Amino acid sequence: MAHQVNGVVAEAKGAPVKLVPILVPDPGPGEALVRVKACGVCHTDLHYREGAINDDFPFLLGHEASGIVESVGDGVTNVAPGDFVIIAWRAPCGTCRSCLRGAPWYCFASRNASQPMTLADGTPLSPALGIGAFAELTLVDAGQAVKVSPQASPEVAGLVGCGIMAGFGAATNTGNVGRGDSVAVFGCGGVGNAAIAGSRLAGAHTIIGVDLDDRKLAWAKEFGATHTINATSMDPVEEIRKLTGGNGVNVAIEAVGNPVTYEQAFYARDHAGTLVLVGVPSPDMKIELPLLEIFGRGGSLKSSWYGDCLPSRDFPMLIDLYLQGRLDLDRFVSETIGIGDVEEAFHKMERGEVLRSVVVF
Ligand SMILES: NC(=O)c1ccc[n+]([C@@H]2O[C@H](COP(=O)([O-])OP(=O)(O)OC[C@H]3O[C@@H](n4cnc5c(N)ncnc54)[C@H](O)[C@@H]3O)[C@@H](O)[C@H]2O)c1
Ligand SMILES: [Zn+2]
Ligand SMILES: [Zn+2]
Repeated sequence: MAHQVNGVVAEAKGAPVKLVPILVPDPGPGEALVRVKACGVCHTDLHYREGAINDDFPFLLGHEASGIVESVGDGVTNVAPGDFVIIAWRAPCGTCRSCLRGAPWYCFASRNASQPMTLADGTPLSPALGIGAFAELTLVDAGQAVKVSPQASPEVAGLVGCGIMAGFGAATNTGNVGRGDSVAVFGCGGVGNAAIAGSRLAGAHTIIGVDLDDRKLAWAKEFGATHTINATSMDPVEEIRKLTGGNGVNVAIEAVGNPVTYEQAFYARDHAGTLVLVGVPSPDMKIELPLLEIFGRGGSLKSSWYGDCLPSRDFPMLIDLYLQGRLDLDRFVSETIGIGDVEEAFHKMERGEVLRSVVVF
């Protein structure tokens, strides 16, 4: 039986999203049906709506979600009805060449539900990042449902499912930030501020937040930035050098998805420093760098997909740090909104008014 609920759908490139009836099937083998409790509005949802990810419209948006398992299909053992879960967009398959080499965070065949959710007329929907959680119910592979302590609020838990994990992991997993390191984070939105919070927890000594918006920079300080730079009024590379004894940082994290900030992050590093790209560029973006600079500066240029996380390991860990009072995740929730308010939340995001708007059900 399929359940009819309302979902936030992007029908065409650049068109405002619409709340429309959708059909969500009962779980088949290996699948879980989740009653969504909260789902954050991430910049990646906006990238989907703008056609910057791919052209597989219509998209069912929403991918930063927590909820309660409603029912499970045959063969599911990791979760049961009633469990409080965070939905992950990575569920390692265990059998691809990367999983077999012991690096499941690069899994090349991450699992998703095999049955499609559809519009009321049967048109299949492309769920954002294999989730689609701006809806009262969503169908996922059971491996995407990660059980965490129900003491965490649904809003906070949902954000761990994407932005917080991506930023935190970009610093701690991909960038390997450690005690005494200097770090610069370009773009202090939800993802960038999570990278700042992760860097602080990892023991970084100097943490420099760079943004164009003073509001974002004020929040960056609350998350642990020791210094902030507004790149509209000064050259961030020069300022970062000044703040690091003329050397640059050990780890530069790009959390915008833009060639300008990528180049700044490249030059803001110390010799042998690490550059982590966590921002998602659009297909038309290009970068030109002198090959000699790439060679001569050494270090590494890395991309961070989902903070190189292993959801089953990292989601409960982040929730536990939060419950112990060591990681303030409540600050990421700027406002809670209704499911009909996602389009307006995109505009607030573009105007820089929020870190995260979170749809609650
Ligand atoms: N790699 C991943 O797994 C992953 C996961 C989630 C999100 N993302 C991506 O991370 C990026 C950030 O997401 P978000 O939700 O934090 O977005 P956001 O809109 O909340 O934050 C982006 C920030 O960048 C700032 N900014 C824009 N141009 C700038 C510039 N030239 N210099 C300095 N700052 C600038 C904005 O003011 C804003 O504060 C997006 O591209 C998103 O798609 C990647
Ligand atoms: Zn795999
Ligand atoms: Zn996201």
